[in-house]
Amino acid sequence: MDWGMENRLSQLIQRDGRSLFLPIDHGYFQGPTHRLEEPGKTVEPLLPYADAIMLTRGVLRSCIDPTNTKPIILRVSGGTSVVGEDLSHEGITTSVNEAIRLNASAVSTSIFVGSKYEQETLMNLAELVNQCEEYGIPVMAVTAVGRELEKREARYLALCCRIAAELGARVVKTYYCKEGFEKVVKGCPVPVVMAGGPKVDSEIEVFEFVYDGIQKGAIGVNLGRNVWQHDSSVAMIKALRAIIHEKATPKEAQKIFDDVKVTKDISYQR
Ligand code: R5P
Repeated sequence: MDWGMENRLSQLIQRDGRSLFLPIDHGYFQGPTHRLEEPGKTVEPLLPYADAIMLTRGVLRSCIDPTNTKPIILRVSGGTSVVGEDLSHEGITTSVNEAIRLNASAVSTSIFVGSKYEQETLMNLAELVNQCEEYGIPVMAVTAVGRELEKREARYLALCCRIAAELGARVVKTYYCKEGFEKVVKGCPVPVVMAGGPKVDSEIEVFEFVYDGIQKGAIGVNLGRNVWQHDSSVAMIKALRAIIHEKATPKEAQKIFDDVKVTKDISYQR
């Protein structure tokens, strides 16, 4: 592997082989998502506990302090919105030159397997890999499910992850599923990270799925809303960090969460 590629990947995947990515890219199709109205403010107390942040160039430039941040995973696809016709109709929005200028450690694009624009999004990924490999920049493929949550089952997720890896993604982001997640990871020859999806009511649910997904081979998470939409977002990210990097069980993570929450979690002040 080229030095540059290896160096960038090592900024993302830590020495223990694990990763905690914090995505705040949701505005690229959802607009000012709840608790991400001011992304800089939301993310600031969380940054010390993240291994990398995932976001678009616009939010990076305007909301993130270039002298005090974490490795950047630059979201380079978009062009759709929640009120538009089809979320899968994405194009590449950001050039590789721009990614280099912004000192990105990786770039990411979504693929929508099984959608009307499957072929376009897969070719977006393939072309992005062609360009990024020239400069030693890893591409993270985001296996998107659009609005169809029922697609989060093992057979479908395994299909998406494998295709992303075959097209050259260096890391793949997918969703966790209770049944057969080990098959999703096993069928994907590159590291897999799990997204969190919409915010759930109880934090233990999140700790349990992250723990289980890691036992089944995922290297970590690319998890946003269940951290920063939580009233105690610092407690959430600290507890998740313990599962990912310190082998904490869901019970131990819950204890960490409770302790941090009780002491002083000032993560989000309204
Ligand atoms: C979608 O907006 C992005 O790909 C997110 O980065 C991804 O879905 C992970 O975020 P969350 O944990 O909120 O689902």
